[in-house]
Amino acid sequence: MVALLSKAGKTMRNLKGISVGIVLAGSVIGMAQSPASYDETAKVFRLDGGDVTYAFGVNARGELQQLYWGGRLASTDRVGPAVPAREWASFDSSYTTTPQEYAAWGAGLFVEPALKVTFADGNRDLVLHYDHHETASDGFDIVLKDIKRQVFVTLHYIIDPVSGILARSATIENREAQPVTIEQAAAAALELPAGQYTLDYLTGRWAGEWTLTQEELHPGERVIESRRGSTGHQANPWFAIQAGDRPDEDAGEVWFGALAWSGSWRITVEKDQLDAVRVTAGFNPFDFGYVLHPGESLETPVFYGGYSAHGLGGASRLLQHYEVAHILPHRVGSGEDAAPKARPVIYNSWEATEFNVNEQGQIALAEKAAALGVDRFVMDDGWFGQRKNDHAGLGDWYVNPQKFPHGLKPLIDKVHALGMDFGLWVEPEMVNPDSDLYRQHPDWVLNFPGRPRSEQRNQLVLNLARQDVRDYVFGFLDKLLTENDIAFLKWDYNRNWSEPGWDQLPPAEQKKVYVAFTRNLYSILDELKKKHPKVEIESCSGGGGRVDLGILRYADEVWPSDNTDPFDRLTQQDGFTYAYTPQIMMAWVTDSPHWLNKRSTSLTYRMLSSMQGSLGIGANITKWSDEETATAKRLIAAYHQVQKTIVQGDLYRLISPRDGSEFSATQTVNRDKSQSVVFAFIHSTQEGRGFPLLKLKGLDPTSDYVLTPIEGALKTGSPTTASGAYWMNHGMEMGENFHGDFQAAAFRLDRK
Ligand code: GLA
Repeated sequence: MVALLSKAGKTMRNLKGISVGIVLAGSVIGMAQSPASYDETAKVFRLDGGDVTYAFGVNARGELQQLYWGGRLASTDRVGPAVPAREWASFDSSYTTTPQEYAAWGAGLFVEPALKVTFADGNRDLVLHYDHHETASDGFDIVLKDIKRQVFVTLHYIIDPVSGILARSATIENREAQPVTIEQAAAAALELPAGQYTLDYLTGRWAGEWTLTQEELHPGERVIESRRGSTGHQANPWFAIQAGDRPDEDAGEVWFGALAWSGSWRITVEKDQLDAVRVTAGFNPFDFGYVLHPGESLETPVFYGGYSAHGLGGASRLLQHYEVAHILPHRVGSGEDAAPKARPVIYNSWEATEFNVNEQGQIALAEKAAALGVDRFVMDDGWFGQRKNDHAGLGDWYVNPQKFPHGLKPLIDKVHALGMDFGLWVEPEMVNPDSDLYRQHPDWVLNFPGRPRSEQRNQLVLNLARQDVRDYVFGFLDKLLTENDIAFLKWDYNRNWSEPGWDQLPPAEQKKVYVAFTRNLYSILDELKKKHPKVEIESCSGGGGRVDLGILRYADEVWPSDNTDPFDRLTQQDGFTYAYTPQIMMAWVTDSPHWLNKRSTSLTYRMLSSMQGSLGIGANITKWSDEETATAKRLIAAYHQVQKTIVQGDLYRLISPRDGSEFSATQTVNRDKSQSVVFAFIHSTQEGRGFPLLKLKGLDPTSDYVLTPIEGALKTGSPTTASGAYWMNHGMEMGENFHGDFQAAAFRLDRK
């Protein structure tokens, strides 16, 4: 690998499996078949992958200028050279609306900068021009340099030849003799041509994550961000922009992207005075200040960008498959063997017991879970320290001797004897003031000396940026995993930052906490994975507060929401899948009426809602009747048979629950089109209306498929075997009795 590329450790690690060979700059002119090619005459860099071409060039001023991002061009097409744009109605050509690949704030730049710095002498002007580059088979490293000073920025580009998804990041290096303070650093900026667009992004709150928000893009800047120290429930670092004045699931051009960062982040979507659109994503510049000492460098997170000509559905299918192929952890083995496996069906004790866990109670739940066909038993909060409720114990990671007098071993052995593996809840980055850890190390938390330490859920945030705190957290987790046969950790994180001081550092350096905390989190996860390669991890943060492509390099799955109401989950799951694969979308069946909405639903409805993702059970199953037990057992067995299709297939959101109609439906088709699974839900029928005809998608029109109900029935007289063309053109007609409130049906289609 090109030396500079290998510096961007994360960038490269994520794009494993792509053959890489060094190609000398300038020697690949005309070889547009290769994913990365450089036209030396025109000074144009071109990346081709999947159905996408991305091109940029060096203009006469020396700026790196974006030229094209969209549908794939022919290999014989030449992209013309970069010509700087002038500011509208300005007679001074140094004012510019040129779409720069990575604009620093300096000269006459008025759009969102990718980089903004202050030098030790007070100078704040930074103008980056092309210096040199290196080419790899799947990307480039482009080195930019300030026109006067020794500040270098290396832009890393890697394109996935299958999906055309581009991974971009930057490394900023100070070769000056004095420190430079970075006040704003993006991973990348991506530009769309002038036009009319709609913007999609995900918003929410605790127990209400994953709302797909759609709006017309107006002039000005739309800011999507977290200032909370972590990813956050309120917005998620993902966006999609669609050409035209209304979103479309199936057709039309969509540009989309996601930022791989679990700390404070920001994505700005800016429509300028000439209607061009620029998306800039990276560290949140709010309260940011990273001092780069001479010789030091800062690496940004990776910003992934993709393009689809097949609407929002096409965009999400590309991103979902990319996540499974390139982001999620690949385990021992290689190729298909190492690829992320369908998740074990889990049982989790939280909603059944809350903090009242003990050996006997957990064993009773485990026995029942095993009888249902569950694969993994997870004990949630309450097993450690003096943890009776959320007021005490966080930080004291020893097994509570009153609840587990013989340690965890008897429970773990029992779980294994029942044929399941064992998982455990932890919240490593937090501490309750009522804990031995805090009494011993009150200085280990984020705080400003002499100021209040605001608590949320009665807890404070450990300053993971500190090496001693990092080592403590790694140490207790390593010990826990070494001493106990644990297959899985549910890694929770239940509050946002406040008073984010790091008082061991000089005042000017303290804001480094925004980068160092998250990097240390990643380094702990990385080291744990290396030492305990089989252990799987779920990222949870009071529900879906830490779901992003950064944590997903280490986490095998996520907890999307504390809201397990099966009806609410339909909309949440719909929103979630715009950005993330159902593979990681854990969904538990819990008790009815639901604690949040007090809504009563049948077990079948709850099961089918959860079966749209990675199924789990979180109810108090010791109280289930024989009939409920039999229903759950039957549906878990049916789910096991089709799970891979559901979680790793091509997802089609046939009828979205978002549009407020009485109905919703999804369909997934596996990659070789041999199997498909359809879910249909009725929220509440009105005026006797029947379920709409479901025209399926993505099947092979010429193959015959046999339809088998998992739950429910088709209309009397409907064929059970018909061609893909029939199911897609004629469609599926739901049974006459499919009416009422909170009804659900599911079907599988298997190629004959
Ligand atoms: C958070 C999680 C829940 C549960 C509790 C335990 O709220 O999201 O699933 O683990 O913490 O305290």
